[in-house]
Amino acid sequence: MTEKSAYLFAPLLVILIGAVTTEAVFEYKKSLQSLEIYLDKRVILQHSYTKPAIAIGKGKTKYENDLGNFHIEDELLKRISLNDFQVSDDPLLKEGQLEIDLGESPFHVRFSNPKYDVAITLQFESTSEGNVIRLKKSNTNTEYNRMWLRLTALPEEHVYGGGEQFSHFNLRGRTFPMWVREQGVGRNKSTMVTYLADLVAGAGGDYHTSYWPQPTFVSDRLYYAHLDFSFYSLLNFSSKHYHEIEMQENFEKAQIYMGTATSWPKLLEKLTSFMGRQPLPPHWLYNGAIIGLQGGTEKVLSRYRSLKEHNVKISAIWIQDWAGKFMTSLGKRVYWNWRWDKKMYPDLEKIMKQFKEKENVRFLSYINPHVIKGSEMFDEADNEGYFIKSARTGKTQLVDFGEMECGSVDLTNPKAYDWYKKVVQDIAKLGFSGWMADFGGEYLPVDDSVYYDGRPALEMHNIYSELWAQLNREAVKEMGIVNDVFVFMRSGFGKSPGYTSIAWGGDQNVDFSYGDGLASTIPAALSLGMSGMGLHHSDVGGYVSLLCMVRTEELVLRWAEMNVFTPVLRTHEGNRPDRNWQIYTNNATTKSFSRMTELYIKLTPYHGHVASENTNYGYPAQRPLFFHYMNDPQSYEEQYEYLYGQDLLVAPVLLEGQNQWSVYLPPDEWVYLWNSTQIIVKADKKGKGKTVQVHAELGNPPVFYRKGTQWEKLFQSFSKYNTDQRAKSSESFSWQLLWENPLISIYLLLRKLFWYILFND
Ligand SMILES: *[C@@H]1O[C@H](CO)[C@@H](O)[C@H](O)[C@H]1NC(C)=O
Ligand SMILES: *[C@@H]1O[C@H](CO)[C@@H](O)[C@H](O)[C@H]1NC(C)=O
Ligand SMILES: *[C@@H]1O[C@H](CO)[C@@H](O)[C@H](O)[C@H]1NC(C)=O
Ligand SMILES: *[C@@H]1O[C@H](CO)[C@@H](O)[C@H](O)[C@H]1NC(C)=O
Repeated sequence: MTEKSAYLFAPLLVILIGAVTTEAVFEYKKSLQSLEIYLDKRVILQHSYTKPAIAIGKGKTKYENDLGNFHIEDELLKRISLNDFQVSDDPLLKEGQLEIDLGESPFHVRFSNPKYDVAITLQFESTSEGNVIRLKKSNTNTEYNRMWLRLTALPEEHVYGGGEQFSHFNLRGRTFPMWVREQGVGRNKSTMVTYLADLVAGAGGDYHTSYWPQPTFVSDRLYYAHLDFSFYSLLNFSSKHYHEIEMQENFEKAQIYMGTATSWPKLLEKLTSFMGRQPLPPHWLYNGAIIGLQGGTEKVLSRYRSLKEHNVKISAIWIQDWAGKFMTSLGKRVYWNWRWDKKMYPDLEKIMKQFKEKENVRFLSYINPHVIKGSEMFDEADNEGYFIKSARTGKTQLVDFGEMECGSVDLTNPKAYDWYKKVVQDIAKLGFSGWMADFGGEYLPVDDSVYYDGRPALEMHNIYSELWAQLNREAVKEMGIVNDVFVFMRSGFGKSPGYTSIAWGGDQNVDFSYGDGLASTIPAALSLGMSGMGLHHSDVGGYVSLLCMVRTEELVLRWAEMNVFTPVLRTHEGNRPDRNWQIYTNNATTKSFSRMTELYIKLTPYHGHVASENTNYGYPAQRPLFFHYMNDPQSYEEQYEYLYGQDLLVAPVLLEGQNQWSVYLPPDEWVYLWNSTQIIVKADKKGKGKTVQVHAELGNPPVFYRKGTQWEKLFQSFSKYNTDQRAKSSESFSWQLLWENPLISIYLLLRKLFWYILFND
């Protein structure tokens, strides 16, 4: 049913309850057979006997956990539609009384099915906190553990958000399960890498697998909806006529918050004031790139010095192995005992101090909420009972993180929480200016876990990531260093945007694949932005290198040139540093990267401006085109280009071997960043802009700025950084690296062959 045809529905008895306030409110319209509920004049729920909006049911869900790669199988046993409805006889609603301030006086609707003797009463309430749909009462048997609620959809409507979605920005046409887990390797069932990862380890992932799913979405009808519920849920946008939300297990706890606005910026302002916004990142971030290095004091310092020789601008050195390393069959891994390894990093404390003062360079470290068995910290926490326990043994529950068994800190235990907050604060006290706060609930099992506060594991799995973010925020807030530290997280859920300072996209493959490589970080940033988390970035060059998949110089440089136009430029050596191309692999790469750090610094005032818009208004740093071109229909379809702030349009080169790239430009006056060529784009009959071809040599990513912006002077100065003037990187690969790593050459050859034979690409 569409909004228009809905009016045909209301002949017999029509009660329209309206409110006089200017804030959005719920209203309803009903006839004998049908009910329509409006939020600020948008129809959001339509119910009739034949098209019921609510159903309950029962089912069994199996959760199979392969190192954080959850495989969820759902067996539906029964589904009962609640066809009948009755709107509450609110005591204030006397005959003849048509206007009621619903902010003070909510209405209820009782949906029922007499045949099964079941009923659910939903309350629609508009309060100062927003508009909430919540379950008021349920006359059901406890055997029911599923509820479905259908919100009205229009066939052509677009919906975005869902947390961090790497494959599809517009969520219409698909179902998005809300379950925190590893994103997987490949994430596209029709690619070779995914196939192999599934075969070898059940780790291929899928279009929806994400470390940060979040049941929040925004619609181009300019409303947001946030499901406050942490058991397993599904956002099903497959239907043309409704968005179906499925809640499993204890659905009585679910609440849906909604809000509306008149434009995209205003909608995000509202959503983020509900979620909580991210603080300003530290200003030292704009001193250059954060360089990921490891291997001990000596190695790190010598790498740092050689990068400096090539004039690489460095804001911080990130040493993820500060707590030490140990061997597994997959190679060296960080030792998960979150204390300084003095053997590996002698003099670290002194060096950090000296670097901060003399070189203006910070150090960053790494931590996650899991602690390895056999370590000093494990024994401490185990003795105090600070870990999540096993129901079976009554002792610490050990979780396998890949040849390492760990305890996970029970963040529902106030004592454990405080202890771990101190552990985190000790990192700052030692002299670090930030850390990767990795993981969250991804690996947490759902059978056999006992939490201190008694909540079931199925309820805790997702929300654990939010608690982990909250702990990190509190840790730095108490120390008064929120705006001086750089804490970055990959996992999230619920209201994580209010606690996370900066998100990073997790572990991409070291390739150009759309499902899990360079390109996938763009929809990830955009969807997280539309979920209220406006600061995002990714590892330059990607992270996951498996089998014969290794990264090339081209990938590293393409990734770096994109990240210049994001809030953060940070490198990572990847999971197999020696086999993959690094910014220090040869002098030419280092020089090219050095130029990128210069460009990143050049944008400093603009980076600061973009970040402050995010902090003050909740406008994400990386924005979809429609954010500022809401009348251009094509802007709603673009998921591989973005606006960085309002004034830069960035269309990164996402494939190998390109020297041309096509860029969609919405109607406006644009100037090409690298040579100041102007393009005036007029809207066509449908309101669309146009696609142009640009030269896109390595080092000059396709970027346009908006003519007449207040930043015009700054952007104009970029034309002197045109490729022609840069230090030419003549070698496209290093023979030395190939010689040392015959795998790279074999990989390049085999890939071409296999891909061609099997997948024709
Ligand atoms: C999603 O909704 C469609 C349309 O109602 C339905 O056919 C499909 O089974 C649903 N998917 C899931 C996973 O519930
Ligand atoms: C998945 O891979 C196929 C085949 O390479 C490709 O056509 C498709 O666009 C990919 N899907 C996504 C979401 O990347
Ligand atoms: C790389 O640069 C360093 C420092 O400038 C220099 O000493 C070295 O000779 C260069 N290597 C090559 C192969 O050019
Ligand atoms: C500037 O760059 C654009 C995009 O690559 C190209 O079409 C145009 O010819 C260039 N103009 C000049 C003057 O080089």
